[in-house]
Amino acid sequence: MNQKAVLDILPDHVNGTRDFMIFGHFLEHFHRQVYGGVYDPGSHLADENGFRRDVIEALRRIRTPVIRWPGGCFVSAYPWKKGVGRRVPYYDKAWRVEEPNTFGTDEFARLCREVGAEPFICTNAGTGSPEDMSDWVEYCNLEIGEWAAQRRANGNDQPLNVRYWSIGNENYGAWEMGAKTADEWARLVLEAAKMMKRVDHRIELAIASIPDLDWNAKALREAGDLLDWISIHGYWSRASDDGVFEKGYDNLIARAFEPEARIVSVKHILGALGYLGKLRIAFDEWNLRGWCHPNFMAFGAADHALMDANDINSNYNMADAVFTACFLNSCLRHCDVVGMANFSPAVNTVGAIFTHADGIVLRPTFHVFDLFANHSYEEILHSALRTPAFEAKTVEGESQSVPQLDAVVTRDPASGNLGITLVNLHGAAAISCRIRGLGAGGCSEATLRTVNGDAVDAYNDVDQPDAVSISEHRLTIGDMADFIVDCPPHSVSVLSLSAIN
Ligand code: AHR
Repeated sequence: MNQKAVLDILPDHVNGTRDFMIFGHFLEHFHRQVYGGVYDPGSHLADENGFRRDVIEALRRIRTPVIRWPGGCFVSAYPWKKGVGRRVPYYDKAWRVEEPNTFGTDEFARLCREVGAEPFICTNAGTGSPEDMSDWVEYCNLEIGEWAAQRRANGNDQPLNVRYWSIGNENYGAWEMGAKTADEWARLVLEAAKMMKRVDHRIELAIASIPDLDWNAKALREAGDLLDWISIHGYWSRASDDGVFEKGYDNLIARAFEPEARIVSVKHILGALGYLGKLRIAFDEWNLRGWCHPNFMAFGAADHALMDANDINSNYNMADAVFTACFLNSCLRHCDVVGMANFSPAVNTVGAIFTHADGIVLRPTFHVFDLFANHSYEEILHSALRTPAFEAKTVEGESQSVPQLDAVVTRDPASGNLGITLVNLHGAAAISCRIRGLGAGGCSEATLRTVNGDAVDAYNDVDQPDAVSISEHRLTIGDMADFIVDCPPHSVSVLSLSAIN
């Protein structure tokens, strides 16, 4: 029997405006993300700059607005000055591999230009100094000085105009090289922010953060007025040390609203510290799945072969797609405070695009980005959803009541067209959603686009690239004031409705 939900829309009440940067991505020097991922000069699929044409085209298709780079843990010992001009491979202490070092700042800026994305550089606040960080801003954005001259000598006559910068990556964590206490962090942030903004006051600056009052209170008290963003991260399912990814659909879906809880805690912290409305959240690394890198904290040899488990496409299925849609819905709901998010990562590992020698596979999460980036709109309308819930248990045995349907109503302010995101989280039961409130009379042509596969564990791979894909149905809606849309189990849809004139 079909479950039933009701979505009441208040079209005259706009909750806020979405920042398109929530559809951003992240790229780290890790495994096959950069080398063999987006950058592969030896590949027959590479363009004249060494970028994989198929990857660039896919990133353009989902209108990637911003790319964060170069890490991640990698950045906390990254010597950016060795990554411009003459290049020498060096030992990467984060992932314990040789870094070829052929992809640096100039290549990253070119990649962003090809994709049409804003570059977002995360600086080294581990072993790096405020001087290194501000020199990096000079290299990218100034017309004068030693570093601008070096950039010109390296072939970039014009400034690279990097607007988004972040001080550090996860420097609160013991795993990070150059980890800091809250007091050390606050001083470093003040000095780095001051110097970076003296070089270019137009930049927007984030700091590595967590939902912790003390960590934020100290940094914001020192440097809050120099900052624009608080950067937070989240991964909700870890691969085991022998490279096995979590499988149970319900276990994974039990976590679908944890990102929203994290957003709310940071929002409260910003409020408590008097920075709500001044700083926004950049959720600049997120994914349901954590990356597989066993022995990360152990000394001795890192087991690189096990990292190949990240490349097994069957690990990424409808649970990933549904979780991703719920994450994006949470950002839309909290558009007053979440201004950027970066899916981690863009290519390979646990990302939305997988590369192989002769092409790419678009994983289920890619299609969710396609739906949201191309069919949801800027204005978030007020709505109230009544939905049944079901019980799901995390692998730790924690029971969660999960709403079966999640929905957000978006509108294009120019045309009045609507894009309603509808996520059915249940693994087996369909749900019909009655949609009310769009005004009496009128009849509208509607299109329902749905990401789905034939089972919760459906996935795409080289020999089955479209097992999960977007299907499109035209619907004729007789009465816009009250109509019903059916959502199949484990599906992500966007209902597009044209405005009635
Ligand atoms: O597992 C990948 C790592 O996750 C990123 O490098 C880091 O920023 C995060 O802890």
